[in-house]
Amino acid sequence: MELKGLVLSGGKGTRLRPLTHTRAKQLIPIAGKPNLFYAIEDLVAAGIRDIGVVLSPETGDEVRSALGDGTRWGARFTFIVQEAPLGIAHAVKTARPFLGEHPFVLYLGDNLLSGGIRHLVAEYQATNPAAIVLLCPVDDPRAFGVVALDEVGRVVRLVEKPQDPPSNLALVGVYLFSPAIHPIIEGLRPSGRGEYEITEAIQGLVDRGQRVVAHQVRGWWKDTGKPEDLLDANRLALSQVARRIEGELLEAKVIGEVVVEPGAKIVRSTVRGPAYIGAGALIEDGFVGPYTAIGKNARVIASEVEYSILMDEAQVYHLPYRLDSSVLGQGVVVDGKGNTRRHTLQLVLGDRSRVML
Ligand code: TTP
Repeated sequence: MELKGLVLSGGKGTRLRPLTHTRAKQLIPIAGKPNLFYAIEDLVAAGIRDIGVVLSPETGDEVRSALGDGTRWGARFTFIVQEAPLGIAHAVKTARPFLGEHPFVLYLGDNLLSGGIRHLVAEYQATNPAAIVLLCPVDDPRAFGVVALDEVGRVVRLVEKPQDPPSNLALVGVYLFSPAIHPIIEGLRPSGRGEYEITEAIQGLVDRGQRVVAHQVRGWWKDTGKPEDLLDANRLALSQVARRIEGELLEAKVIGEVVVEPGAKIVRSTVRGPAYIGAGALIEDGFVGPYTAIGKNARVIASEVEYSILMDEAQVYHLPYRLDSSVLGQGVVVDGKGNTRRHTLQLVLGDRSRVML
């Protein structure tokens, strides 16, 4: 049977506050495009058109309107509301009527993979295992699902966020499952943190002697759970962009792999790639340094920005310092003009904003 796709775009996003007070974390732009779109593109590129999207009641409407009905990708979306964020396995359970007896790719909407999933889908179709999971070596596995392999590379044990990790291999948020996963999910109990854990469900497959295949990721993988991960994901995604200048350059120096979208203007400024300048943005008397993405209609005036994400309509003016490693939400204004009293700061910040000086 044909594979379906299941993209998770619910959850709480507590680690990305305050950005997630006002938007779904899966819609945070990475190199100028919502994180979630990368997952959709990977599924579609692997030939998967029938895609379920799990939503939370809080951010569901926003995600739905960002995605539309799927025609722009040649896909068909089914939206599934998960009433409470009770875990990834719970999201799969909620989507059961959509999944039926189809095998499926489960793709967490805040994950990014450089290598796509075509080869995995092809392998699944050729070999029909109970599951294919992806692994990536990480420095601190305690924040992830962790997998122990035996000497021939078979999965023997999976543990969620272990204090004492059995390996440095983190479970990537992209999985291929046969419908054999469903009865196991039915039998799960909530974990210590109160969630239905997908790692426990996969362990259930292993315990029943079902074939669970593990591969290391090709290229890079990023899970954008924390603010520093957003910047790193943005860096990685920008490292794959090719130069494309469609906006207007006036006395501008645009160096290397830079995208300037239509309607954007670079005036008396330097942009050093890799960088992304969104449609309608204005860079004037400024500097935009490597690994920076500037959103639609954003402004950088008489300021320097590097290794940062400015979301749509964010504005920085006359900054006395270079803005570095920063994430500015939609419509945020940072204005250094009129700062006549040096050594003072005037701030109007939303709940749980963070300022690092
Ligand atoms: P997580 O990042 O593990 O959880 P979270 O979104 O609740 O974030 P935080 O820990 O910062 O509070 O979730 C991984 C992905 O799966 C993410 O895209 C959200 C989604 N998800 C659901 O759709 N339903 C759920 O019940 C859970 C836990 C996550």
